[in-house]
Amino acid sequence: MPTILAIESSCDDTSAAILRGDRLLSNVIASQDVHRQYGGVVPELASRAHQQSIIPVVDTAIRKAGIDKKEIDAVAFTRGPGLLGSLLVGVSFAKSFALASGIPLIEVNHLQAHVLSHFIKETDDSDVPQSPFICLLVSGGHTQIILLKSHFEMEILGSTIDDAAGEAIDKAAKIMDLGYPGGPIIDRLAKDGDPLKFHFAEPHIPELNYSFSGIKTSFLYFLRDQLAQNPDFVAENQADLCASIQHTIVSFLLKKLTKAMNKTGIRQVAIAGGVSANSYLRENLVQLGKKHSWKVFLPKKQFCTDNAAMVGIAGYFKYLNGDFADISLPPYTR
Ligand code: KG4
Ligand code: ZN
Repeated sequence: MPTILAIESSCDDTSAAILRGDRLLSNVIASQDVHRQYGGVVPELASRAHQQSIIPVVDTAIRKAGIDKKEIDAVAFTRGPGLLGSLLVGVSFAKSFALASGIPLIEVNHLQAHVLSHFIKETDDSDVPQSPFICLLVSGGHTQIILLKSHFEMEILGSTIDDAAGEAIDKAAKIMDLGYPGGPIIDRLAKDGDPLKFHFAEPHIPELNYSFSGIKTSFLYFLRDQLAQNPDFVAENQADLCASIQHTIVSFLLKKLTKAMNKTGIRQVAIAGGVSANSYLRENLVQLGKKHSWKVFLPKKQFCTDNAAMVGIAGYFKYLNGDFADISLPPYTR
């Protein structure tokens, strides 16, 4: 059973994990708080923070796994997509580590890693999906409905034509001046609100595709009109506004997901990516699963947002296929 060191540095989380086979031994994530004051990720600051964190994070992951670094058989790393300066830190570290240790390198696609996070085993009897299954990948950069035929055979059934769902939630939070990243804040505030209090129109997009820029604009214009009459409108209606915008986005996500399930006849469904941490999405998907007799897979919170454990599991499957990377590979941003 190979022992794999995995590195993730595509955006604003520096993460390292150790896996033995498909079993997770450690998963360390250093989030970068520096971006909060700017209301979004500042790429130059992200690469600098990765540079500061990468060695301590890897060191901690090895220590927490209780292994010696000589036991590591391969290094898996996120090659892309992501921010170039951020990716370069992880890619360069992975190459140096592999070269110094005389072990192979494995390149991993960040989106595949999010989907494959469902196969990480924390115990021997962790329940994992059986292919084929449908996965809704929802993050700050992506919104896709994916059909997983096998570990690396993925077909994109639908995709956003503009903003990602997480991006729309973050922008709604920014409009209300709630802070960054807005997803977890809206999730928390929405718990005390009425999801049906305000109505925001859902766009008509064909097939299994999504669009979120219209929802964001309708939210912006609605608030602009209300604030013109009552400058305290946001403060007085915060929870209801959060609950209503969250409801609009989650209902739209689930409507297309249901369409995909019905169209394919598949009965196992999973969600992945940062927005899959959303409690309203999780609760509603579980309800929907009961109604339609689907087996629903919700990732643990630590595997929703960016983490190296998911890179490690993708790396393990590639290791089994003998799919190793050349030392000269550059990162890719898209
Ligand atoms: O997967 P991720 O960490 O990074 C990308 O690859 O984009 O996703 C980050 C996104 C952000 O938009 C963030 O607001 C959102 O995930 N997010 C949430 C929650 N936690 C994170 N959105 C809604 N509810 C949450 N609890
Ligand atoms: Zn991600």
